[in-house]
Amino acid sequence: MNAAAHTPPVPGAIWSALPVPAFLLADRGGKELILDCNPAAELFMSASAGQLRNDPAFDRLAIDAPMEEASARARINKAPIFINDVDVCTGDRPPVVCNVQIAPMNDPAETLLLLIAPREIAGRLGRTRMVKAAAKSAIGMAEMLAHEIKNPLAGIAGAAQLLSMNLSAEDRELTDLIVHETRRIVQLLDQVEQFGDQRPPERRAINVHDVLERARRSAEVGFGAHMVFLDDYDPSLPDVFADPDQLLQVILNLLKNASEAQPGGGTIKIRTYFERGLNVQGFDGRRVSLPLHVEIQDDGPGLPEAISENIFEPFVSGRENGTGLGLALVSKIIAAHEGWIEVRSRPGQTVFRVSLPMVPPKPAAPRSVDRKPGANKKESH
Ligand SMILES: Nc1ncnc2c1ncn2[C@@H]1O[C@H](COP(=O)(O)OP(=O)(O)O)[C@@H](O)[C@H]1O
Ligand SMILES: [Mg+2]
Repeated sequence: MNAAAHTPPVPGAIWSALPVPAFLLADRGGKELILDCNPAAELFMSASAGQLRNDPAFDRLAIDAPMEEASARARINKAPIFINDVDVCTGDRPPVVCNVQIAPMNDPAETLLLLIAPREIAGRLGRTRMVKAAAKSAIGMAEMLAHEIKNPLAGIAGAAQLLSMNLSAEDRELTDLIVHETRRIVQLLDQVEQFGDQRPPERRAINVHDVLERARRSAEVGFGAHMVFLDDYDPSLPDVFADPDQLLQVILNLLKNASEAQPGGGTIKIRTYFERGLNVQGFDGRRVSLPLHVEIQDDGPGLPEAISENIFEPFVSGRENGTGLGLALVSKIIAAHEGWIEVRSRPGQTVFRVSLPMVPPKPAAPRSVDRKPGANKKESH
């Protein structure tokens, strides 16, 4: 085999082809600024390299680990650092569990290479198999399609990025358009995938405040960066009986809508309280009591009159670029939890209230004292 016959790919092509988000970081006065990032990182962040450049990396990317410290250590030791199984928030979606690597490039400027490998990939495979089994239903088909379309889209965005390197500024507008629109389609497909996710909730005892704080942190670094968040928690609230990932999705969707209702900024108040009196009929005809309440309140303009009766229906949106899937997903998840959601809205105040059941008492078996809900545990998907 003649190695010389192969022309090795140029570094730029490797950068673009790399299927995991990658960033180049520079230390500027103790802050790690983004020098550059690859197309996989742009898709991951839902932002272009141009928008990300010179931004402090760990403001845009909330990683549940002391990243500034780890970066400094990688530079000093001139050795890579691996951090596994950490939550990474990019703002627009629930935190993703990732393996993170920081490697010094060993150049005079002491650039760092940050690689973020979502562990989601393993979970995804499992999910695809499930979706194939559910392919009979239309929504299962939509989800499968969404999944299949997303991969080539990443390729299209990458190719456009590569093309743009040799183009005049005028022509580059066109490749930027491709990248921008591709990203929008990926976001829509993400929502279709989530909506079609038929997984029944894996309900267990969870501390709702942990979920609320995770959602709030995610919002604060992303879609809700322009909002002020207030909380009014009842610290004695008993555990709720819910799937933590699905509940997180519910809260994120509500926070996102509240943030989008006030593009110029405003206040979001998250409140929890205990109040008996609300009951629904459970799946087996039983009466289920819903005494645990979470309210998301904003001081925006209120629901648009024309759609206020139908906001929980799929594809009903009052926003130009809305999909109308956010609240449909919320209501689907809450229904699967035997819970209840309602909204009160007037100009200047909109309150979504989610009501959930307590953990059902276990009849016979002695209770094990294993994991205390609410501890700062890592969850694998
Ligand atoms: N907090 C809110 N304040 C005002 N309007 C809201 C709020 N939450 C939801 N809405 C309205 O409900 C519509 C449906 O929301 P949703 O189902 O999340 O879809 P989307 O956000 O994609 O439009 C929104 O487009 C918006 O008009
Ligand atoms: Mg929405």
